[in-house]
Formats: sequence, structure tokens, C-alpha cells
Amino acid sequence: MIISSPSDYREAARRKLPPFLFHYIDGGAYAEQTLRRNVEDWQAIALRQRVLQDMASLSLETTLFDQTLSLPVVLGPVGLTGMYARRGEVQAAQAAASRGVPFTMSTVSVCAIEEVAPAINRPMWFQLYVLKDRGFMKSALQRAKAAGVTTLVFTVDMPTPGARYRDAHSGMSGPNAGLRRMAQAMTHPMWAFDVGLRGTPHDLGNVSAYLGKPTGLADYIGWLAANFDPSISWRDLQWIRDFWDGPMIIKGILDPEDAREAVRFGADGIVVSNHGGRQLDGVLSSARALPAIAEAVQGDLKILADSGVRNGLDVVRAIALGADAVMLGRAYIYALAAAGRGGVANLIDLIGNEMRVAMTLTGAKSVSHIGRDLLAG
Ligand SMILES: Cc1cc2nc3c(=O)[nH]c(=O)nc-3n(C[C@H](O)[C@H](O)[C@H](O)COP(=O)(O)O)c2cc1C
Repeated sequence: MIISSPSDYREAARRKLPPFLFHYIDGGAYAEQTLRRNVEDWQAIALRQRVLQDMASLSLETTLFDQTLSLPVVLGPVGLTGMYARRGEVQAAQAAASRGVPFTMSTVSVCAIEEVAPAINRPMWFQLYVLKDRGFMKSALQRAKAAGVTTLVFTVDMPTPGARYRDAHSGMSGPNAGLRRMAQAMTHPMWAFDVGLRGTPHDLGNVSAYLGKPTGLADYIGWLAANFDPSISWRDLQWIRDFWDGPMIIKGILDPEDAREAVRFGADGIVVSNHGGRQLDGVLSSARALPAIAEAVQGDLKILADSGVRNGLDVVRAIALGADAVMLGRAYIYALAAAGRGGVANLIDLIGNEMRVAMTLTGAKSVSHIGRDLLAG
């Protein structure tokens, strides 16, 4: 299949993956309204076209937590990435490093921190969930530090897992899920050979190292379900702040009040995010939540935004609304599933090219020139 734009990768991923995996990535909570609005609301933001501004020299570079990024894009944390491509976390991290942007490893990765960190020549970011098992959290932080992780992304919008009804239909969960997954793998032989057979072990690398026994896909759901901690509050985070001396980003902020709390707490950054519409359906899209949050805390900490960012225009729109950078989720996971590390590298190139065109035609010579004055209306 011909890939000419970032959006082509979704269809390419759909063809390659067994349906239970494609729908696990593609789906959201309940009726998926927030999932849809995440994408549509970025698209609805119109840019002002400016001409004859001498745009011969243009830079996409930006600095975030003392790191230079070749464009204001971070690969966000996505669980089970090693199920979508062979040793998927390693491939995604290598693609990010080759293009000069950070990769964020999810707590619930297939590969362990120690497998990914040495495979790249750039320090990676690590995402941690709030889990009841504080021993696991401490050991994960220690291992991240030992592996040279620079930046901690602390995800706070999953005190309890959202209900994703698609998963029951697709075979990810529900009756006879194991048998249905097996049948789907048999009808997707390329995935079955490349990832199913050659991509083993399918552990949760970071978890199995701690639990001391192998964990598989079914255990993933069980272990996580037993470990989400709805009792968590800002006070409980203090020990993590004390334990982690590098930059700490709170991911999952959708309200200006919570953004101000993050500043009071001493966070270095936030990710404006509704978890890609996978948690509470019906909440605001990131595009609609971002302006008020930026107004409340811009300048006090770094603002990243995700959820629905699909291309270079969306990146420019998010920065115009007040973000310092964006995180990609599904956009890069589709590319990874479709074409591995080369697909992710190509996706980042496509996004950079789209940003260059958008910046040239809006008169923004650098990322710091992308602001509200780029917005039409
Ligand atoms: C399949 C999948 C797994 C995810 N796993 C995690 C995770 O382990 N930790 C986390 O903080 N966010 C996780 N997220 C949320 C992403 O980091 C990000 O917030 C979201 O994908 C953004 O929405 P978008 O994909 O529509 O751009 C996951 C998202 C997807 C699609």
C-alpha cells in the first residue's frame, strides 16, 4: 500500500494486525465521542495564511528540559508496543533517536527498560502509573535512573481503567478471548510470524523483572486491574517528587484547576491529555481544554498536549494554542505496526515536512514564533 501521508498508516496497520490488536489501539471508551472530537477539534482550528514574509530560513528545533529536539514532538507512552511490532519499544525508540526526538517508555511495555535504553544513543523518558504496589513503583524508578532515563512522565488519569467496549467485540477481552485471538493470528500470518513467533517473549518486561515470574497478555489485564489505586491524591505524590531528582511531568491534565495544582506541587511539566479518549468519554477534547490551561499556567511549567494529534498541522495548532510540544500516541503506533522503525522515522519526517509548509505559510520562522496570532478568527 502507498504511504504518502501520516493518515495512511492507520489503514496499513489495520491490514497488518490481528483485529483484537488493531481495535485495542484504535478504540476508546464508551461511545468514543471524545476519541472522535479529539481529532475533529484540532482539525477545526483555522490558521491565518501569510505571504511574502521571507521564510528562506526556518527552524523546527526546540528545547525541552535541557534537551534539544529537532522538532517539538515526543513519542508518548503506549502500553504493549511490543505486540504491535517485533520488540516494538526498541524499534520505536530507535526511530525517535534517529530523528532527534524523545521516546517515552510505558510502564506496561513488552520490553524492559534494560532492553531499550542500551539500544539507543539518546536518553529516554519513562512513564509511571500510580499503582497500589509502591514497591514496584520504587523499583521501577530505581531501574529507570540506573538505565539513564532523564525524564519521568507520571500518568494520573487512570485511577481506574476506562471501559472500552470495542475490546469485548474484537477478542481482546470477553468470552473465548484466547481462542478468538489465536484464530485471528492464524489469518494474519505476517504478524504471527514476525511478532507472534519471532517477537517473543511477550512479557511485561518491567513488571516481570519485579514479580520474578513471566507475565503474559492475560496477566497484564489482571495485574493492572488489581493495582490501580483510586485512593491517590496530590499528597501521595510527594514521595515520588522526593525520590526523582530529574524533570517530572504530570500526564492527564484536562482542567485549569488541576494544572495550577501541578504547579503548586512543583511539576516541571504537564501533558494536557484525556488519554486519547480511552478513559472518561464525554470529557473535553485536548484542543478545547488547552487554551484555558495555557492561560492558567503558561510560563510556570512546560505544557505538552496529546490526544488526537495526527499530523504536522495539528502540531502547529497545538503550539499556537499554548503547548510547548506534543506527544504522539496512535499516530506513531499505526506507523510502527505497519512498517516498524522505518515507518516511525518516515512518519516523523512527514510531520516535520507538514510543519515546514504550515510555518512558511503562516510566517512563523521558529517554534517560538508559533503563537495565538497564527490563529484565524
Ligand atoms: C494502545 C494505547 C495504549 C496506551 N498506553 C498508555 C500507557 O501505558 N501509559 C500512558 O500514560 N498512556 C497510554 N496511552 C495514552 C497515550 O499516551 C496518549 O495519551 C494517547 O494515545 C493520545 O491520544 P492519540 O493516540 O489519539 O493521539 C495509550 C494509548 C493507546 C492508544
